[in-house]
Amino acid sequence: MGMGKVRRIGLLTAGGDCPGLNAVIRAVTKTAHNDYGANVIGIEDGYIGFVEGRGRILSNRDVSGILPQGGTILGTARGNPFEAAGKKEGDYSCFVRAFDDLKIDALICTGGDGTLTMASKLYEHGFPVVGIPKTIDNDVMETDYTFGFDSAVTIIMNAIDILHSTAMSHHRVLVVEVMGRFVGWLELVAGVAGGGDVILIPEIPYEEGVIFERVLERSRVGKRFSIVVVAEGVKVRGRILGEEEKGRIKFGGIGAYISHLIEDATGLETRPVVLGHLQRGGPPTAFDRILATNLAVKAIDLVMEGKFGQMSAIKGNRITSVPLARAVRRLKVVPKNHYIIRSATAVGTSFGVRE
Ligand code: F6P
Repeated sequence: MGMGKVRRIGLLTAGGDCPGLNAVIRAVTKTAHNDYGANVIGIEDGYIGFVEGRGRILSNRDVSGILPQGGTILGTARGNPFEAAGKKEGDYSCFVRAFDDLKIDALICTGGDGTLTMASKLYEHGFPVVGIPKTIDNDVMETDYTFGFDSAVTIIMNAIDILHSTAMSHHRVLVVEVMGRFVGWLELVAGVAGGGDVILIPEIPYEEGVIFERVLERSRVGKRFSIVVVAEGVKVRGRILGEEEKGRIKFGGIGAYISHLIEDATGLETRPVVLGHLQRGGPPTAFDRILATNLAVKAIDLVMEGKFGQMSAIKGNRITSVPLARAVRRLKVVPKNHYIIRSATAVGTSFGVRE
């Protein structure tokens, strides 16, 4: 599709929600109208709503006032669009039909790795698609940050600050279970910002004994409390704790598991705290509002330049674009030599390994 031919752009938000999605919806709609005279069709409930042909034109008025709101006014969904359309896996006729029914010339897909993988496949099958990376997990390759991450980090840091006072008063160990699936970005950044004493992330296999030693040592020197931040994706003897739901792992249980371990081994009173979906709600931080807006404006520019199969991204403080296929090849994990790990270790944080 050439430059200047795009008149109607579909926009969907899919997968888990996060703060900043409404900032994207606002920026996409306003930029399309104001800079290009194009219309945006807001699609309800991600790919499921798309194959069901559920969408509406968004006016500048519709998106007025939503910048500070968490969640997504379009709704989101997980799930398999082929199944929802009653088609065999890989039968893209439901997408051809959705493009026709909604009369759109291009589609912007906002989401994490699942959503962007689907977007990449759509592009491979000839659909004019552009991606915008979002997720609190910050696990999308080829972008330094996804929006939603900074807001979740702030919520987790505030929770750790709050937990400090009660942990101190009761001389307890509090084990905080944090989201993030298979990667440890949230625990690393929020754990260090909140001054966690032990941080356990999936990328660094822990030794139980090191955790016990650290909390006991703190007790011995008069710090009669500890905060242990644990990623939901940390394994127990090679196994993730949780259950399978609709072909996807629903994480849960590691906080309680580590809490029992610590209490049994050290005799210190220990309690687990699961932050859960609190981490995904509420208003976006300033950083996320600006990142979401920048990524959205870039995505519209890509659409208008006919640069499909791309994802907007931030790299080294520059807004740029990368091929979707490169962004979805694997998850972006925390490198073991990351500078934050080095800094945290230097100020006394343990990652559950011998230094
Ligand atoms: O990917 C975002 C995320 O919040 C993960 O950190 C978490 O494991 C998962 O989604 C929870 O999914 P759901 O909202 O479907 O319970």
